[in-house]
Amino acid sequence: MNTESKSLLIKNGLVHSAQFDGKLYQHSWIQVDLLCEGGKIKEMGPGLSAKVDEVIDAEGLHVLPGLIDSQVHFREPGMEHKEDLETGTLGAVLGGITSVYEMPNTNPLTISKEQIEDKIQRASQKAWCDFAFFVGATPTNAEELVALEKLPGVSGIKIFMGSSTGDLLVEEDQHLLNVLSHGQRRIAIHCEDEERLRKRFEIVKSGAPVSYHRIWRDEETALKATQRIVSISQKTGRPIHCLHITTNQEIHYLEQMKNKLPPGQLTVEVTPQHLSLMAETAYDELGTKAQMNPPIRSSYHQRGLWEGIKNRTVDVIGSDHAPHTLEEKAKPYPSSPSGMTGVQTIAPIMLNHVNNGKLSLERFVELLSLEPARIYKAKNLGPLHAGRKANITLVDMNKERVIEDSWIASRSGWTPYHNWKTRGWPVYTIVNGQIAMKDFEAAHSHLGQATLFDFE
Ligand code: DOR
Repeated sequence: MNTESKSLLIKNGLVHSAQFDGKLYQHSWIQVDLLCEGGKIKEMGPGLSAKVDEVIDAEGLHVLPGLIDSQVHFREPGMEHKEDLETGTLGAVLGGITSVYEMPNTNPLTISKEQIEDKIQRASQKAWCDFAFFVGATPTNAEELVALEKLPGVSGIKIFMGSSTGDLLVEEDQHLLNVLSHGQRRIAIHCEDEERLRKRFEIVKSGAPVSYHRIWRDEETALKATQRIVSISQKTGRPIHCLHITTNQEIHYLEQMKNKLPPGQLTVEVTPQHLSLMAETAYDELGTKAQMNPPIRSSYHQRGLWEGIKNRTVDVIGSDHAPHTLEEKAKPYPSSPSGMTGVQTIAPIMLNHVNNGKLSLERFVELLSLEPARIYKAKNLGPLHAGRKANITLVDMNKERVIEDSWIASRSGWTPYHNWKTRGWPVYTIVNGQIAMKDFEAAHSHLGQATLFDFE
């Protein structure tokens, strides 16, 4: 962490403010200045003046609570040739992200106190944005999770119900029940049914076009796992977060179940890639770059996901940033690994959707900032006000720019959105009261700190 703390005044911006009434947010936009000192918002009000180290003239910009990407895979330790905590968090701030929650399918797996502390220690030296880490559930570590989930800097528990990159897997109901019955933090779940995946691997085993990825890992594979885990959550009362939901059927099912379960017990994520790429074109245009788990599906399913954003079945947008090198991606399918980069493009891609009328800027703020803070109970994150941590993203809703591979900080060096022209861009990323990104360039380095969480 960079310890020398500078003061900062953000003037003339249109600042987002919100109040949560237990169910919905009341949003407002106010013309105020923000004074940041010692990593916090010291004052928020009209016409502020103070002797400070840095001033931003935010005329014409929207000032948002810092954007959180609550699903990233940064590969350190063990697969640093794909990504590490430095390159991953640098990509984050270049794309307007102030905090990330990172996944446990590293090598070694993040399943012990030592490994969590090791990740926090590493990130504290080199993270450009704030960070927190998920602990992985295994078929045998349910009892240990009770202590592990309480460690500072832990965002929650992660379960892979279907196998993906790495060795984490909890596939049987009895083991899932055991994990959900121990501890209290929210559990983020990769919902694909392993038994069905194994049975259907036949379809692609001896070589098939990558477009068959969605046929192997079909709609039923996703829906079945989602239904299984929601019913275990219903039995145990444990809060769960269904990650990267991809099918129309799941959205309908989750909508119904959210109405049956206590508020907040069941939360739902979708990714920008499932909202933006479609099977009809993505596999032809991108080849194995479009391969991810769960797969990119048809426009029919994509419409269902957008419906879920509108009707509030979806709570959070996370990138599932999952870098693999171009060399690895060039292997013939199905030996090619699943996953694509996303932490640097999540905000511009979604802001472009805002400009295209697919969602409001207020809903964007909920999905990418307020909700990932609230549902995981992040301390001192949430709507902007005096006293809060000064994690802030400034966006220019009129800025147009072309996304290019050469801009991507990830060690893997590519994006599925290469050559996409999008409108609406983060132009400043403020981490702990200091400028981490200005006009698409990195600024003050290594400002990241561990995110802490409230839980009782
Ligand atoms: O495609 C994916 N790749 N989906 C996941 O859930 C894991 C990820 C990875 O870590 O490569």
